[in-house]
Amino acid sequence: MADLLKLGVLISGNGSNLQSIIDHVEQGKLKAAIKIVISNNPDAFGIQRAQKHKIKTAILKQKDFKSKEELDQNIIKILQENSVDLIVLAGFMRIISPALLKAFPHRIMNIHPALLPSFPGLHAQKQAFDYGVKLTGCTVHFVDEGVDTGPIIIQAVVPVYDHDTQEALTERILKEEHRIYPQAIQLFADGKLQIQGRKVLIKSTVEKTIKPLCNPPLTGF
Ligand code: GRF
Repeated sequence: MADLLKLGVLISGNGSNLQSIIDHVEQGKLKAAIKIVISNNPDAFGIQRAQKHKIKTAILKQKDFKSKEELDQNIIKILQENSVDLIVLAGFMRIISPALLKAFPHRIMNIHPALLPSFPGLHAQKQAFDYGVKLTGCTVHFVDEGVDTGPIIIQAVVPVYDHDTQEALTERILKEEHRIYPQAIQLFADGKLQIQGRKVLIKSTVEKTIKPLCNPPLTGF
């Protein structure tokens, strides 16, 4: 059997996406191994989630380092020491430095709670809710030097209802995040992602036809 893809997951908070990845690995659906979970926040609940599953963790606080660069050099060192193949950003609230990008070219993924390129940056669910879109969702993409600008791997769409709340919408999006992130990682593990400029082509033998989705649904049109 080929070696399992080795993951380094970077978090800052709750870690529900980390949990989903752990669960999919443990269920044998995602063929990868989480080698290390790194947090820049000592209070991140995701640290406890990792420890519960006996996954190695590291906490690197900015205040313990002289500069952003020094902190990033230490993150790189830990990832390399753990032979990480793919960095998975899961609610990691820091801009990725050029040094980290250079050390892991095309090997950093992020998940964003909106249909990029709409609503990049912070509070994407609120941005979409306030804007009044009828459909929003989530996106897994490779990370480049911009904020939420890298080539898109997979997206999931969810409806926004007339009498929605921001909390309900956030929850609806998160549920899909927990499905598409493991899928994106598995596609990477299978060597099925081919980056061509801005586009990520998915190598597949199956012809994909997906029905367009309308909200509100059409009434006979
Ligand atoms: C998610 O909404 C993700 O899209 C965004 O940060 C949030 C992290 O949530 N990047 P969690 O820590 O995985 O629960």
